[in-house]
Amino acid sequence: MINTRKKILVTGGAGYIGSHTIVELVAAGYDVVSIDNFSNSNPLVFERIETITGKRIENIEIDLCDYKKLEEVFQGKTFDAIIHLAAFKSVPDSLKNPLAYYQNNVDGLLGALLISKLCKTSHFIFSSTCAVYDPETVPPYAEISPIKPGTPYGMTKLLGEQLLEDYVKNTEGCKAITLRYFNPAGAHPSGLLGENTDKAPENLVSVVTDAVKTGKPFTVFGDDYATPDGTCVRDYLHVADVAKAHVSALEHLDAATSSFYDVFNIGTGKGISVKEIISAFETENNIKVPYEVGARRAGDMPIAYADASKAASLLQWVPKYSLADIVKTAWGWELKKNQER
Ligand SMILES: NC(=O)c1ccc[n+]([C@@H]2O[C@H](COP(=O)([O-])OP(=O)(O)OC[C@H]3O[C@@H](n4cnc5c(N)ncnc54)[C@H](O)[C@@H]3O)[C@@H](O)[C@H]2O)c1
Repeated sequence: MINTRKKILVTGGAGYIGSHTIVELVAAGYDVVSIDNFSNSNPLVFERIETITGKRIENIEIDLCDYKKLEEVFQGKTFDAIIHLAAFKSVPDSLKNPLAYYQNNVDGLLGALLISKLCKTSHFIFSSTCAVYDPETVPPYAEISPIKPGTPYGMTKLLGEQLLEDYVKNTEGCKAITLRYFNPAGAHPSGLLGENTDKAPENLVSVVTDAVKTGKPFTVFGDDYATPDGTCVRDYLHVADVAKAHVSALEHLDAATSSFYDVFNIGTGKGISVKEIISAFETENNIKVPYEVGARRAGDMPIAYADASKAASLLQWVPKYSLADIVKTAWGWELKKNQER
């Protein structure tokens, strides 16, 4: 349903998922304002969003943990909904710097909730992750599967979910949704938006892209798992599908007549192995992927994928893009970036 008048605040709007989400929101007729402090992104993203959508998005460059500034800037403003994506997202980095992750991700959520209070915004969407699930659980992971994050990053997201649920329970008229993304991958079909890989890439498709770009083989961590080809299996989905899930979630919030909190998995419900990603990348882009097989990595589970049926039935959200789309757009983004250097 096209909604022409609603104004949405997107935190982390210059980021990988945030920028794609803004494109989908604009396409669905929403007005959008972004908050981003560019700790993991670049202001150029807004020029690219303008090229794609024809709309210049206002970004408020502010740290969500700076509550004093938030009060100065947001007092008197109004938004119909807040989509809170801003966070640190690196699992290995969170193991090295847990405190920085607790601070940025938990304080940042509190900052976003402070804005919702200042701006009398009753609709809230929170970005969480499949990293909250107990890795010992046999997949698929449903929303009711056991929860036991194995890293500080996952713990910040679980704390965020619990905090948000409690906030909704104690705040009249508030409605909120947590989206637990599985493995977002790929890039905008225009080649103008994609994952920022200035820091060492960690998501598999970006790692593969980087290996092709540099010619340096990347390591496949183990090929002796009990999976069809021996490599780990995950639930990769195109970032534009993840972005569209926010539009579906907003419509679901709008349709609800009373206060509620709910959680949805955002995945395809299908597992794809590391070797399948490599093979699709080679076939679709007609290019060789340099890699070597190494030892298993501590903490990696053989198989993890979503039960995404709840999002399909309640949000009417189903992913549209294929694995071929993921690897083609990921490479398209890399080629376009290089043309611009
Ligand atoms: N990308 C994934 O694989 C993935 C998977 C599951 C969940 N998530 C979650 O989705 C959300 C978005 O992820 P992404 O991949 O787009 O990350 P990203 O790093 O590309 O984007 C996050 C954006 O938030 C900004 N930011 C961070 N802390 C901030 C702060 N304190 N104040 C203002 N801006 C701040 C960064 O500059 C960045 O532009 C995150 O919450 C992440 O935890 C991501």
